[in-house]
Amino acid sequence: MTTLTRPPKSSKSMAKRAPASNKKKETSSRATAESMAKQQREISVSEFFAKNRHLLGFDNPRKALLTTIKEAVDNALDACEEAGILPDLFVQILQVNESRFKVTVRDNGPGIIRTQIDNVFGKLLYGSKFHRMKMSRGQQGIGISAAGMYGLMTTGKPVTIISKTSKRKPAHEVLLKIDTSKNRPEIVSDTEHPEDDHLFNDGHGTQVVIELDGKYQKGKQSVDAYLEQTAIANPHANITYVSPTNETFEFPRAVKELPPEPKEIKPHPKGIELGTLIQMLERTKTTQLGAFLQKDFCRVGPGKAKELCSKAGITNRTWIKQVGHEQAESLYKAIQETKITSPPVDCLVPIGSRALLAGLLKEVKAEFFAAATRPPSVYRGNPFQIEVAMAYGGALPTEETARVLRFANRVPLLYQQASCCSFKAAIETGWRNYGMSQSKNSLPSGPIVLLIHMASVWVPFTSESKEAIADYDDIRKEMRLAIQECGRKLGTYMRRRKRMQHQAERRGIFARYIGEISKSCESITGTPAKKIYDALKKMADQKTAEADYQLDEEGNFVADDGLANDDNVVVLDPDQQVTPDQIETDLFGEPVGGKSKRGKKTRKKTRKKVTKKAGKKTLKKKTRKSTRSDGQPTLLGQENRKKKKKRIVKKKKVRRSRRA
Ligand SMILES: Nc1ncnc2c1ncn2[C@@H]1O[C@H](COP(=O)(O)OP(=O)(O)OP(=O)(O)O)[C@@H](O)[C@H]1O
Ligand SMILES: [Mg+2]
Repeated sequence: MTTLTRPPKSSKSMAKRAPASNKKKETSSRATAESMAKQQREISVSEFFAKNRHLLGFDNPRKALLTTIKEAVDNALDACEEAGILPDLFVQILQVNESRFKVTVRDNGPGIIRTQIDNVFGKLLYGSKFHRMKMSRGQQGIGISAAGMYGLMTTGKPVTIISKTSKRKPAHEVLLKIDTSKNRPEIVSDTEHPEDDHLFNDGHGTQVVIELDGKYQKGKQSVDAYLEQTAIANPHANITYVSPTNETFEFPRAVKELPPEPKEIKPHPKGIELGTLIQMLERTKTTQLGAFLQKDFCRVGPGKAKELCSKAGITNRTWIKQVGHEQAESLYKAIQETKITSPPVDCLVPIGSRALLAGLLKEVKAEFFAAATRPPSVYRGNPFQIEVAMAYGGALPTEETARVLRFANRVPLLYQQASCCSFKAAIETGWRNYGMSQSKNSLPSGPIVLLIHMASVWVPFTSESKEAIADYDDIRKEMRLAIQECGRKLGTYMRRRKRMQHQAERRGIFARYIGEISKSCESITGTPAKKIYDALKKMADQKTAEADYQLDEEGNFVADDGLANDDNVVVLDPDQQVTPDQIETDLFGEPVGGKSKRGKKTRKKTRKKVTKKAGKKTLKKKTRKSTRSDGQPTLLGQENRKKKKKRIVKKKKVRRSRRA
């Protein structure tokens, strides 16, 4: 105790005795503004990301392998769609040694012209998508160059790019490295390679080969899962994948049409901040304020421009050069106070409920499928749209919690689930309302796959690695509403399933005793047991089936629970297998994602066919209506009424005869 309170004797005395020269040394080692100035210099982007590779999704070998494939596949799909080409992708992972892999991704896109290859692959923050407001998988201009840089840093091997831009031009091969200190490409070799022309059957495309340190492991966050989910969200793509174990997986195309091309839009005035407005004023090519507002923003016409300017106390003829900070601030205030139409939504191309269903049907073995697409909405001036699809039952595991498949602009998000807005929307949904069990603040448990897709001109990712969507209130609300829409359909299906199970149980009980009863009746009445058995069996079937249909007082079927007529719901037999061709024709009666070639009636017919095939006769019957839209009974309704009358008369007769 005493030692603690006693002053540190030795150190004091040492300080007293310390020679003057030592003191000098200490002070001289301290940094001065001048010495610090010598160390202050620019940091290159690639140097920064080489040190902080975890920000780009290269924090461990397993994730690095996935990120590399993801960046290359996303670029390939983007390029094909932009060029209006149905994507045909080849992905190969070759294991070089225990920890080293050679990744090859080849597409049939438009290719990359020779002069651009260097910058696209050898410079971070260089791309065609950052400066525009158009829906695409890539946004930042870092993806593929970062993957190449990671490969170079871990193996020292350059990236190999082979590109062919037309049938007439030979393939071109470039080997390059990134000079991280300068964020510049370093060309190792650059040659024409006509011998590689055979790689591109369509006469154009790009192949990227990156060697990197990685780890291949199957599971929910594996390359296999990423490609499987990519196939779900991109049913128009054909993907061939050769895994490190030399297995070939085919993800065939389920839709033979490309999704419509998203349109590019300009920023919405409500979505910009004061600083951005000032920057835009400094950089605009227009000379007058009115023209600036109309040309550099969307949803601002001559009238709205005039209104904004007059509210800001300036005219729309004011020269841009004369707009100072004060005017800019009052213009910004005027924008906030004025009602401006929401941004256009034709810039969004959702996957579409039917294409989502097709994707899920192709990859998930379940019995109930539902999808919902929300109307477009806006966050911070950026249009976005949410889609949700759900699969339930079948071969899905019953003991686990629901599996959430998250997508942003058709790209699967495999990491950081807990910090993703879509996950938060899923856990705050009341799943118990739909017959599912759910603990507090968690996903429902049961055989459920929940797919959530956000389409936007700018997806707000939580980091550069593009793994999770930021938690904006507007986005979360839309997600929750879409989940609820699907959930209600699931709830209806669950109730129907319960009812059917109950009837099946009743039928089972009847069936158990019918044999005994018919034998006893035979001994009393002498009627053959077989005859009695058949009659009783028929009656039991009828009774339980009737209860399924539920007739109302007038003998009509109780109104359909809504699922049979819903185009966004598919119910299959638990063991039913569907092929891609069946998905396109049988389930929807027309190519998914394409325009209707046949009428709606035909579609309904084919749907009935499927449900019949699945053995759900109840569904088939329920699609027939007993009343017309004008309230008059249909032929079926009339028939029912006649039948009911007959039944009542018959019952009365039976009662009378019994009394007699
Ligand atoms: N396979 C390809 N075919 C055609 N062009 C490509 C291909 N891969 C990349 N590009 C071009 O190279 C650019 C840079 O790609 P990179 O992946 O680095 O960035 P990005 O896709 O724009 O954004 P992000 O960093 O979000 O992926 C792209 O914008 C695209 O123009
Ligand atoms: Mg990219």
